[in-house]
Amino acid sequence: MSKEKFLSLIKNQRKQKKTKRFSGTFIDYLELISENPDIVKSSHKRLYDALTSHGVEIIEDSDSRKNKIFDGDNVKIYTYFKSNFFGMERVISKIMRFLRSASLKGEESRQVLLLMGPVGAGKSDLTENIKRSLEGETFFHLGGDPQRGEPLHLIPRNLRDKFTEELGIHIDGDISPIARFKLLEEYDGKYENFPVVETSFSQRARRGIASVPPMDANSQDVGVLIGSEDISKLDKYPEDDPRVLSLNGAFNVGNRGIVELIEVFKNEIEFLHTVITATQEKRIPSPGKNDLIHFDGVIIAHCNESEWNRFRSEHTNEAILDRIVKVEVPYVLELNQEMKIYEKILSKSDFDDHIAPHTLKIASMFSVMSRLKHTQKCDILTKMKIYNGEDVIEKGRVKKIDIKDLRDEAYREGMTGISTRFIMKAIDSALSDSEKSMITPNAVIESLIKQVKEQVINEEDRDIYLEILQKVIREEYLKILENEIAKAFITAYEEQAQSLFDTYLDNSECYTNRTTVKDRITREERHPDVDFMKSIEECIGIVGSSTDGFRSDITAYMFAKMRRGEKIDYKSYGPLKEAIESYLISSVKDIARIVTRSKSRDDDQKKKYNEMIGTLIDEYGYNEDSAEEVLTYASNNLWRDS
Ligand SMILES: Nc1ncnc2c1ncn2[C@@H]1O[C@H](COP(=O)(O)OP(=O)(O)O)[C@@H](O)[C@H]1O
Ligand SMILES: [Mg+2]
Repeated sequence: MSKEKFLSLIKNQRKQKKTKRFSGTFIDYLELISENPDIVKSSHKRLYDALTSHGVEIIEDSDSRKNKIFDGDNVKIYTYFKSNFFGMERVISKIMRFLRSASLKGEESRQVLLLMGPVGAGKSDLTENIKRSLEGETFFHLGGDPQRGEPLHLIPRNLRDKFTEELGIHIDGDISPIARFKLLEEYDGKYENFPVVETSFSQRARRGIASVPPMDANSQDVGVLIGSEDISKLDKYPEDDPRVLSLNGAFNVGNRGIVELIEVFKNEIEFLHTVITATQEKRIPSPGKNDLIHFDGVIIAHCNESEWNRFRSEHTNEAILDRIVKVEVPYVLELNQEMKIYEKILSKSDFDDHIAPHTLKIASMFSVMSRLKHTQKCDILTKMKIYNGEDVIEKGRVKKIDIKDLRDEAYREGMTGISTRFIMKAIDSALSDSEKSMITPNAVIESLIKQVKEQVINEEDRDIYLEILQKVIREEYLKILENEIAKAFITAYEEQAQSLFDTYLDNSECYTNRTTVKDRITREERHPDVDFMKSIEECIGIVGSSTDGFRSDITAYMFAKMRRGEKIDYKSYGPLKEAIESYLISSVKDIARIVTRSKSRDDDQKKKYNEMIGTLIDEYGYNEDSAEEVLTYASNNLWRDS
């Protein structure tokens, strides 16, 4: 772009900004309101509107998560959060419910919203996003007022009923001491002439959005919250003169918008008294000798569980506790959603190295399993799969474990375990250890093991984590790999699977109904091929007397589906799909031989090997290095007996 073009870009933007903003007197403002009463809003309402303006949907019936994860509930999905937060629908709904009640002036409008959860569960990021939703939105306030008060507060008490009637707006609150001083000194009490301006929210410019980091006891100064007296002006003006006030504390800045209290309970309790009056009375102390100042802002705080427990256990904190609505922000326990977190974090970084297939899944399996509570009902891998909405097949049947029962018995699940940051660190270090600018499942597993050994101090946890990594995850990874390799190398895998399925279904129907099968090609009638059925059933451990039941179950299931007009294919019934796939996989053993004997491959085998690498790259997302690595790994760990 040329210099001129840049300049015109800048000027255009500036012009737009200028023309759009309102600036006038209080009378002009009143006129504006009568045209558009919607511009007057409480902070809670403004925030709620800003967040919902992006759209709200109800989870679709066709979304399998509705029934499998959310127990059929009509969970709301807020578009604003959708592309940045995963598996947090319940948490977000609770936050939105709080804001909605608060926006209707319910008791919530006098409460602090506290997000409580383990490190790395997304509390800070969530709050950051909530604050950001206001950026660019505008609000109207008294000109020259550091508290940026609502102009309607100029209306004297005895006139408010009239105005409320006229405008349909309830007026609640008073102007700040500085605005009052201006009103009397500069406008001679004629509030109709008081200037009103329109301003946009901006955290960086400290307009309507304030953030308070935790402070240690020594540096703790309540001025950070409520402003202070300007000492240099104290010899110029008397002590109670509003001109000595510097209303630049967080509760001054965040008036009309949001005040965020980061890791709130790291502060001394005295520090938090402002929070009590701000909620209870909607007023905050003024520095010096002035009266309390009206405050209207959303207060959002966050903390971890141990801080919360410590705080809660002290009965002197009751007054504040009474002012808190706590929303728990647990870790994600749904594998597919956990994976999306790492995809998001990586996509936002400069990272552009190769990530081999399954790498993030393996990492996520670890974090999710580390967070699960032990149960008698099933093993930890099964529990993870059920929490992910998957059907788990065992002994030829879909395992009937209710996700609700699992959740009910697991008190505080999601509040402990491995954090997102722990995983990200392991991914980063796997990457820096890699000589080939790539990360693979194996590298991540290694890096996680190392990190657990170095950093997990609690011995019991460490043992569990190592078992998950070294045993559960490794075994599961091999299974995933075996399946993938089979699919990649059995030519026309799907067709073969489908044809096995058709043949099996024909046979089992006839077997169950004691009729004969018509051969699909020769049209000859013959008896059901029991040996064939057995060879499939064996793959998932259905043998002996249980075969009859299995066959009639499948026949009934499939024909019920067909009657309902649903399409059926080899994936329709979980157990049969498993059986067919593992039947196909056993034929991979031929391939295994080619992979394993790298030294003695003849030309033909070399060609075949290269084709395999090609397929892994073209169709499965590997690169040359990771494809080689995965085949070597598979040949060393799978098909040992071939
Ligand atoms: N459920 C989630 N969805 C999307 N991102 C998440 C989720 N949980 C954690 N994260 C990400 O993990 C990182 C750490 O989160 P952060 O907000 O700093 O955690 P906390 O403040 O709870 O310690 C952030 O990059 C955040 O975006
Ligand atoms: Mg945080």
